[in-house]
Amino acid sequence: MDPEISDDDRAPEYPGLGHVVVVIPTYNEADNIRVIVSRLRAAVPDVEVLIADDGSPDGTGEIADELAAADRLVHVLHRAGKEGLGAAYLAGFAWAAEHGADVMVEMDADGSHNPEELPRLLNALRDADVVIGSRKVPGGKIVNWPMSRVMISSVGNLYTRLALSFPVKDSTAGFRAYRAEVLAAKNLSGVASQGYCFQIDMVYRAWRSGYRVVEVPVTFVERERGQSKMSPDIVREALWRVGLWGVQARLGSAKKALDRLR
Ligand code: GDD
Ligand code: MN
Repeated sequence: MDPEISDDDRAPEYPGLGHVVVVIPTYNEADNIRVIVSRLRAAVPDVEVLIADDGSPDGTGEIADELAAADRLVHVLHRAGKEGLGAAYLAGFAWAAEHGADVMVEMDADGSHNPEELPRLLNALRDADVVIGSRKVPGGKIVNWPMSRVMISSVGNLYTRLALSFPVKDSTAGFRAYRAEVLAAKNLSGVASQGYCFQIDMVYRAWRSGYRVVEVPVTFVERERGQSKMSPDIVREALWRVGLWGVQARLGSAKKALDRLR
């Protein structure tokens, strides 16, 4: 025992995984952030929480500060302005890495991801490098999404699987856990995706690098309060980036085949 460090200062340990940091990106989630943090702390007490707020005009950042003041395992990263989900997560992952995280978790603030299901993701990570809370494997569900949103998600995932020839069924899912090594700087160079395409980007990179990706079923529940930040621009970004990666992968294989013929 190090007499200088009291139990109160020590990072929490999740059994078998070590220090887990759950990153929650927020933009205008004032009606949701208190509830989600308290549900998370109750469901999984052995994790640290980082709220990555992009200067929400509705005061989410100030509420997050109150939560952090009341709980030593809750922290806030204040960012200057809305820069998209991807940038907020990258900043959150960097913070977690600096604070010695062994595992980083992505979770929405709006209640769509049930903190009560997080132990299932974490337990699966003991035999994997990335665990996706998936709506598209048996047992996975989407509750209260309009038909239009279900279609966008299904077509988007099908397009992604065909373009990239990879096996993940729910590559846009935003509830996931990564071993820190997967998110090491060397694996993240050049990540430029901003919107939900970021989710595809991260899992495609991990899979191509040979990391073990596992999907466990979760129930995604549409938010009851506040607004989704989904926009046509977010869909367009995913379409062109995924298409480009697909072409790059095919050109790469064609080049290898040509090299073999030489
Ligand atoms: N800091 C920050 N900056 N947070 C953001 C930003 C941003 O620019 N945009 C969204 N968020 C936060 C929201 O406040 C919320 O906590 C979380 O990111 C998810 O945003 P939503 O706007 O609620 O996303 P959604 O419900 O439409 O989409 C969900 O499902 C998609 C798959 O179908 C998310 O989980 C997506 O990541 C996922 O791709
Ligand atoms: Mn949402």
